[in-house]
Amino acid sequence: QKGGFDHFMLKEIYEQPEAFSKTVVPHVKDGLPNFERDEIPEDFFENRRHIQIVACGTAMYAGTVGKNLIERFARIPVSVDVASEYRYNNPIVGPGDLVIVISQSGETADTLAALRLAKQKGADTLGVINVIGSSIAREADHVIYTHAGPEIAVASTKAFTVQMAVMFLLALELGLKNGMIQPDECRSLTDQLLDCRNTMEQALELTKTVPDIVEKAIDCPSLFYIGRGLDHALALEGSLKLKELSYLHSEAYAAGELKHGPISLITDGMPVIALATQQVVLPKTVSNMKEVKARGAKTLLICRESETVDADAYDFRIDLPEAADEFMPFTAAIAMQLIAYYKAVQSGCDVDKPRNLAKSVTVE
Ligand code: M6R
Repeated sequence: QKGGFDHFMLKEIYEQPEAFSKTVVPHVKDGLPNFERDEIPEDFFENRRHIQIVACGTAMYAGTVGKNLIERFARIPVSVDVASEYRYNNPIVGPGDLVIVISQSGETADTLAALRLAKQKGADTLGVINVIGSSIAREADHVIYTHAGPEIAVASTKAFTVQMAVMFLLALELGLKNGMIQPDECRSLTDQLLDCRNTMEQALELTKTVPDIVEKAIDCPSLFYIGRGLDHALALEGSLKLKELSYLHSEAYAAGELKHGPISLITDGMPVIALATQQVVLPKTVSNMKEVKARGAKTLLICRESETVDADAYDFRIDLPEAADEFMPFTAAIAMQLIAYYKAVQSGCDVDKPRNLAKSVTVE
């Protein structure tokens, strides 16, 4: 059942390129995003002035990536809420608004309740769901299914990747409908998106160094993940994965925020994992790495293979294949999943079933 892998999680990490293609390819027609198979009416994405994304855990971080992409390509303001907070904060939402709920299982109690609240307030709702016929899939106005296949390990890996892929397609569709991108530009972006299957395959090769690096770099009970923009969203997800699997305390911070307080926690040998895949902010993140290194931190840089970064900024480095900034989350996710996986294995943790956690959280 584990296909020769030691754990379901590792198998599922390696299944990502295929899951990605199964999700993206059927949603592309003539080089443009297409949601005909989901029976979503053409005008569903038109005239949207505000979008809310609601989800929990990893699905919420896929939503955070989605916010960045929708605002980038469609210039529509997006808010992202944790479902358990959304419900109790009397959300400002109503007719004409689009509420996107993201859930692998389609059964998460808080996400389901948030969906019901948004519907009750008159919003249009769209579910991005992996499990066919699940409660959220049945109740949302429309559903886009991700095609990750069954995810057995409690830690979400391939479902996260395909959720990001759907958010990418949605961002392009909304950009087209909102007149913010033209079909030719969109075709080029869709081509690059389709090519992420290959870059993910390459990333699985390039990250063969991860077990060794993890052993040397992460030997402290507490650490930081830092990044800016899309790297910050991925740092949040990487940090969650590490906590969930290896029981280490890990905090994700916007790299520029460290000096506003948490830098006081940096002591000799504390690991800081810096995601620096976004070229536009790379020098800033590198300078944040130097700040923590000067205070004794042990830094692990995750960036493109071709990037030239001052050697005095990092102690360890994980390389990722070339892609434009907006496509880097697909390979950065692999690096972070593997960091969490190998740290948990090396610490003797129950990788597929971490303590206190359930795959589907059906209580509020
Ligand atoms: O099934 P869902 O996507 O709604 O689940 C949401 C979270 O419970 C889930 O992503 C959780 O955070 C994972 N265990 C993270 O790996």
